[in-house]
Amino acid sequence: MPQESAAPYGLTPTADLAGRTLFPHRHLLAISQLKPWEIRFLLDEAEHWVAVNRSSAQKHDGRLAGLTQINAFFENSTRTLLSFEIAGKRLGADVVNMHAATSSVKKGETLIDTAVTLNAMRADVIVIRHGSSGAVQLIADKVDCPVLNAGDGWHEHPTQALLDALTIRRRKGGFEGLIVTICGDVLHSRVARSNMLCLAALGAQVRVAAPATLTPAAVDCMGAVATTDFDAALDGADVVMMLRLQNERMDGAFIPSPREYHMLYGLTPERLAKAKPDALVMHPGPMNRGVEITSGVADDPDRSAITEQVEMGVAVRMACLDVLTRSARNIEGWA
Ligand code: CP
Repeated sequence: MPQESAAPYGLTPTADLAGRTLFPHRHLLAISQLKPWEIRFLLDEAEHWVAVNRSSAQKHDGRLAGLTQINAFFENSTRTLLSFEIAGKRLGADVVNMHAATSSVKKGETLIDTAVTLNAMRADVIVIRHGSSGAVQLIADKVDCPVLNAGDGWHEHPTQALLDALTIRRRKGGFEGLIVTICGDVLHSRVARSNMLCLAALGAQVRVAAPATLTPAAVDCMGAVATTDFDAALDGADVVMMLRLQNERMDGAFIPSPREYHMLYGLTPERLAKAKPDALVMHPGPMNRGVEITSGVADDPDRSAITEQVEMGVAVRMACLDVLTRSARNIEGWA
């Protein structure tokens, strides 16, 4: 399978004397903070973990043994929380989950006091999901260890974009010239923001299709072209990424009705025929079946990569945890 190199043209962008590539970030907060080679480096690191997870009955590696990983989730999650937990455990970390619903946040504790509390427990890495854009940056500024953004408000979901990019690269071989159509509630979607930035940085042509009410301003600044015409956006697409209507983030009527939305923006087998014959169907989950996607498409084993995305999530999160804790593990040369 063709693979893009972490070091294009044979050059290692940042390396120590032993030739190891160095990742020059303490935290992973946003795709917007990463250069294209840094994204490719994390994808290459994740490839290793895909192979380990698939090939070995004994998946435990142990390189994070003795380190404490706290997953602090202030919003609900299935895929991201579980895959970060599995990733940490496969690397040997002591993994602790903090759910806001059963924590002292419910008694009125502030975000900063919560961050200071987690820091005092001498966590070695903290993974955070929060409903407010920028909350993860706020916590990163208050603690002494690496912080990974597991989704903050409408802002970014960087590991989701990385796992989506890994899925696409493995299926399509690369990104240069690839047409990726992202359709749905782009306005409220941190997944869409991270994906636009990530895929454009890697060389893909990114189209977003959404009602005007669900299209954010300045999509072009994130490397994408916007349209309200989903059928036109599907023409010649190599990848079709569908997004959920995020009703929990809506404080008004953004669409006339789910039925009408489905008529214009739902992905059906008939509509998918407008894309390339081998177009890949993706969805970050959770899905609203019958609204943005039909089961006939979501469950089509020849076209849908949705469960593969979940699998790649574990590998990407293992890579990110490994890379960001190299300094804590006193691996020489790591910032
Ligand atoms: N894709 C995603 O973030 O899913 P969860 O909300 O289940 O973590």
